Amino acid sequence: MHDEPQAAVTYESYLQLESLLALQAPRSEGPEHDEMLFIVIHQVYELWFKELLHELDHVAVLFSTDKPHRAQHTLKRILTILKVLVAQLDILETMTPLEFLSFRARLEAASGFQSNQFRQIEFLLGAKNHAALARFPEGSPGRLALERRYAGPTVWDAFLRYLAREGYAVPTSHLTRDYTKAVEATPEIQEILIDVYRRDVKSAEICERLVDLDEGLAEWRYRHVRMVERTIGSKPGTGGSRGAAYLQSTMGRNLFPDLWEIRSRL
Ligand code: HEM
Repeated sequence: MHDEPQAAVTYESYLQLESLLALQAPRSEGPEHDEMLFIVIHQVYELWFKELLHELDHVAVLFSTDKPHRAQHTLKRILTILKVLVAQLDILETMTPLEFLSFRARLEAASGFQSNQFRQIEFLLGAKNHAALARFPEGSPGRLALERRYAGPTVWDAFLRYLAREGYAVPTSHLTRDYTKAVEATPEIQEILIDVYRRDVKSAEICERLVDLDEGLAEWRYRHVRMVERTIGSKPGTGGSRGAAYLQSTMGRNLFPDLWEIRSRL
């Protein structure tokens, strides 16, 4: 008996390009020229979101296995991806309001609002919001993935546990906190962080990368809402929110509030 000869791996087969490049399906008549850009850019975002989740999960594992240097290295990669995500908005801003309007109605109620991976990233970074779960049908793979993130520890929890193992007196109440709650600023943690900044270069560097991450997401939110304002003004969003007014309301909340609170005391 001879084994079937295996086809040699090619660029196309390895990357499954035939499937990947068949996934762009404009809905407008014609179709409208700009719809292709709109689809491609959102798909590219979702791929990067996938990679971000992959790396964020890895950071948590690296903290829990006491590999701070590797965790820092991975955080650097995450930040670099975030920069690319922000820069990509420039491309979409080459689309004028009228070009967007040429196909906007065909989006119906579809919106980045419904991006499951974006919510998973938010949850993993501590921005937990129960209302986001209800946007996904109960029992669907997206809902189950989000529920798991909602109930699970955040990157910040993984970092606090790491600090506890490094000998810092992180209160047990923090190590066993209810993960479904958003991360709140706490005086006891701030005392610990001030100590970290003053005498522990390695952990202080990690804190700085987490601040970078916080800023990176804030930068994305800011650039996205500006793009929304220039493209649709104050119209409501296709996802059913008040549009730019809603997006403005998501800004200004820090992911790691303790790291911001201590700045004025250092
Ligand atoms: C012309 C381009 C775009 C417009 C006009 C636009 C508009 C909006 C609006 C109005 C919202 C609020 C929710 C709603 O729909 O009611 C929203 C949310 C959102 N959009 Fe966009 N968007 C655009 C491009 C993008 C791109 C390229 C991404 C990348 C994935 C994206 C991701 C998101 C996300 C994740 C949210 C939820 C934000 C949150 O709830 O904090 N958007 N968008």
